[in-house]
Amino acid sequence: MLADTIMLQMALMAALALRLFIMVLFENAESVPQMGDQLRDYLSLYFQSAWPLTSICLVVFFLNGFYTYGHFYQGRYKALMVIQAVSLGYLLYTAMVYFVGSTLVLPRSVLAVSWLISLAALLGARMWVQIWDAVMHRESTLRPFRSGGKRKVLVIGGAGYIGSALVPKLLERGYDVRILDLLLFGEDPIAPFSRNSRVELVRGDFRHVENVVQAMRDVDAVVHLGAIVGDPACSLDEALTIDVNLSATRMIAQLAKSAGVERFVFASTCSVYGACDEMLDERSEVRPISLYGHTKLASEKVLRQLTDATFSPTIVRFSTIYGLSGRTRFDLVVNVLAAKAKIDGEITIHGGDQWRPFVHVDDAANAVAMILDAPIELVGGETFNVGSNEQNYTIHEIGELVHQQVVSARITADNGGADKRNYRVDFTKIRNVMGFKPQWTVEMGIRQVLEAIASGDVVDYQQSQYSNFKFLTETGTAELAGDRWARELIRDLRDS
Ligand SMILES: NC(=O)c1ccc[n+]([C@@H]2O[C@H](COP(=O)([O-])OP(=O)(O)OC[C@H]3O[C@@H](n4cnc5c(N)ncnc54)[C@H](O)[C@@H]3O)[C@@H](O)[C@H]2O)c1
Repeated sequence: MLADTIMLQMALMAALALRLFIMVLFENAESVPQMGDQLRDYLSLYFQSAWPLTSICLVVFFLNGFYTYGHFYQGRYKALMVIQAVSLGYLLYTAMVYFVGSTLVLPRSVLAVSWLISLAALLGARMWVQIWDAVMHRESTLRPFRSGGKRKVLVIGGAGYIGSALVPKLLERGYDVRILDLLLFGEDPIAPFSRNSRVELVRGDFRHVENVVQAMRDVDAVVHLGAIVGDPACSLDEALTIDVNLSATRMIAQLAKSAGVERFVFASTCSVYGACDEMLDERSEVRPISLYGHTKLASEKVLRQLTDATFSPTIVRFSTIYGLSGRTRFDLVVNVLAAKAKIDGEITIHGGDQWRPFVHVDDAANAVAMILDAPIELVGGETFNVGSNEQNYTIHEIGELVHQQVVSARITADNGGADKRNYRVDFTKIRNVMGFKPQWTVEMGIRQVLEAIASGDVVDYQQSQYSNFKFLTETGTAELAGDRWARELIRDLRDS
C-alpha cells in the first residue's frame, strides 16, 4: 500500500514536472519571467490534488482485493485488474473534481500523463515482484540441501521395484548414490548402473546396525524403500515383518538423526487408509486392515516422534504401482492383469468394486526425486499421497482397461480371496505443493507391459522373482532370518 501511494504521488509529480518543462521549452520568451509564479501554482496544485487522488485510488485498489489478495487479483488476469482499478481511480477523481469544485482541477494533459505513468509503475512493480519470486523459487528448488555442496543420497532398498527406477533418476539429477540392499531379488535390477562410478553398493541387511552405520557415512539424505512389501508377503512371518518394516525403520531413522542427516524420505503406502468409501487425503483417518499397513502406519508414527529442528522426515504414501522397472513386479494388479490377459487369455477380477489409486513406477520415482530437490522448508515433516486424482479406479475398471487392449481375453470373476482394501485418494497436496503431475496413465502402463511380453523381455510373469509372496514362500525367509550372521560365523569357524 505504501509503495502504491509513493508510485501514485510520483506519477502526478512527474506529469506536472513534464508539463512545466514543455512550457519552458516551447512557450515564448516573454512568459519566462512568469515561470516562478507558474512553478508555485504547480506546486500548490500538486499538494492539493495528490492526496485526494491517491486516497481514491487506494480505496479502489483495496476494494479490488489488492491488499487482501482477493480471488480475481491473484488470478490470471491480474494485469487487467490493475489497469481497470487505476483507470477507475482516476475517473472517480475526475468526477469528484467536477462535482465538488474547481480548486482541484488538474490540466487534462497532466491527468492523462499521470494516469499512464501510474499504470506503467503499478504494473511494472507487480511484474517485477513476480519475476523476482520465480527466480528465487527456482534458485531455492535448485539448491537441494540447506548446507549446499555434497549431494550423496543413501537409497535403502535401492535394488527393488521402485529403487531400480529411482537410482537412475537421482544420477541424472547429479546426485551420487549409495545403495544398501540385501539384493533379495538378485543383481539384475541394479545391473544397468552398478558400474557407474557415482554408485556405491553396500550389500547387507538393513536391520544390522553396522551395515546402516557404514552406509550412512557422508550422506546428505536417506530414502528408505526397504521392506517386506505387500499384504501376502507380510503375512508369511509376522515377527519378521515387524522386525524388517518397523523396528529397522526406527533404528535407521535414529541413526540418520544422530548422524545429522536432516532429509529422510520414507516409503509408506495408501494401504494405511484401509477400507473406506470417502475420498481420502493426508488428514483423513487411517484404518489399515493388514499387518503390512499397520507396520507402515506405525513407522510413520515413529518418524513423527523423532521429528524436530534437526530431523525433518518426509513420508510418501505411494498408490499401487504399475509399469516396468529394473525389478518389475507381477504381483500388482495392473501388471498381473495385463500379463495374464496376454499370456493366458484371461482377465481374472477378484472382487472388482474396490477402489484403488494407481501410479506408474517412473512417476513414483520422480516424486521422490522432486522431494529431494525441494527446499526442506517445503517438504520436511510433511506427508504426501503420491499419485493423481485421475488415476483412482475400481479393480473392475482396470480389468476393462486391460480388455480394451487385449480384446481376445476373457473377463472372469473370482470373488473368493478378494483384497478388502478399498480407498479413493486425493492427491491435491502433492500437486499444489510440489507441482507433481504423473506423466503416465494406466492405459500407457498396460501397453508397456504388453510390449515387454511381445518383445520377449518378459517371458514367464509367474516366476518367483516377480512376486514378493512367491519369492519368500519358495526361498523361505532364510535370507532374512535374524540370526543369519551368527549361523554364518559358526559355519566359517567350523570350516576354518
Ligand atoms: N510397489 C508398490 O505398489 C508400493 C505401493 C506402496 C508403497 N510401497 C512401498 O515402497 C517401498 C518399495 O517398494 P517396492 O515395490 O520397490 O518393493 P520391493 O520388494 O521391490 O523392494 C524392496 C527392496 O528391499 C530390499 N530388502 C528387503 N528387506 C531387506 C533387508 N532386511 N535388508 C536389506 N534389503 C532389504 C529387497 O532386496 C528389495 O530390493 C516399500 O517400502 C513399499 O512398502 C510400494
